[in-house]
Amino acid sequence: MKPVDLRSDTVTRPTADMWLAMQSADLGDDVLGDDPTVQRLEHLAAEMLGKDAALFTPSGTMANQIAIRLHTQPGDAILMESGAHPFNYEGAAAAMISGVQIRPIAGTAGILNPSDVEANFRPPDPHFAPVRLVCAEDTANRGGGTPYPIATLHALGNLAHARQVSAHLDGARLFNAVIATATSAAERTQAFDTVSVCLSKGLGAPVGSLLVGPRDLIERGRWVRKALGGGMRQAGVLAAAGIYALQHNIARLDQDHQRASMLADGLARAGYRAQPPKTNMVYVDVKDGPGAQQALESHGVRCLAVSASALRVVTHLDVDDNGIERTINAFHAIQTEQATG
Ligand SMILES: Cc1ncc(COP(=O)(O)O)c(C=O)c1O
Repeated sequence: MKPVDLRSDTVTRPTADMWLAMQSADLGDDVLGDDPTVQRLEHLAAEMLGKDAALFTPSGTMANQIAIRLHTQPGDAILMESGAHPFNYEGAAAAMISGVQIRPIAGTAGILNPSDVEANFRPPDPHFAPVRLVCAEDTANRGGGTPYPIATLHALGNLAHARQVSAHLDGARLFNAVIATATSAAERTQAFDTVSVCLSKGLGAPVGSLLVGPRDLIERGRWVRKALGGGMRQAGVLAAAGIYALQHNIARLDQDHQRASMLADGLARAGYRAQPPKTNMVYVDVKDGPGAQQALESHGVRCLAVSASALRVVTHLDVDDNGIERTINAFHAIQTEQATG
């Protein structure tokens, strides 16, 4: 039997309808600026986020790193929550590509407190790297998939602008936040200069992200993307999947959120400590993270140990109710094995 793969919402395969959209896409050479499907995707994303323009990138990492490069100069400092993706999981790219120092700030469930951000703006002094950018992550992945309160998003963007620096939102899972909070993407991103969104996570596309923002900045972003090797030729094949995802796979994220809740309830009934999920991620306390990951794998369930004592389990398009039931049963089984082994 195929394993239930809950390692991430990035593991989905295109559905039959998405494949059809990809096969019938009009194509051009996007590096030469004439792939009509990429242009349609970029227009659609910009419109949905209430911004001028968008840039299609191969990954969320590249979209974040282009943003950091556009907003900063070498030697600058940038502020973000200590669990944030560019600080933990982007291979020190901000140092490598932009020569900036990330200053991490502890938040609550991945959510920055604006007063803590404010406190990190030090008076001008040659000892201190000047802060040029404030970043937030919505939903906060390491924070358990927590969406920002919309007022906090506005406060963070406004605070950055009052300090005359830029604000970037890592919206890899922005649409999970949109569905969980019944707010619009444009409202959530309004106070930020640039936003990255991923098509290849809960939205189910195989590849791709977008950087969205003001036209002049996004045009400069095309140059940075090319310099990083991210110019893609007949990229309309991928953009068609992205258009399909934005048009068909947003509302259904609610199903992933409901299944994450079903899973957390089932695990709690089995005696596990699992945070009630806010969106599509369940973080479960276990005695031995890597050991539990391996034991679950032998029961046909794949998830990721995120520390010595916690597993992350993520629901998505390719997990149905039966997958949730199998997962709860596998957690039961490894508990019994541990008790008797
Ligand atoms: C919050 C967040 N930002 C950015 C990324 C980077 O996306 P990619 O894997 O497409 O580079 C991820 C990937 O998991 C993420 O969770």
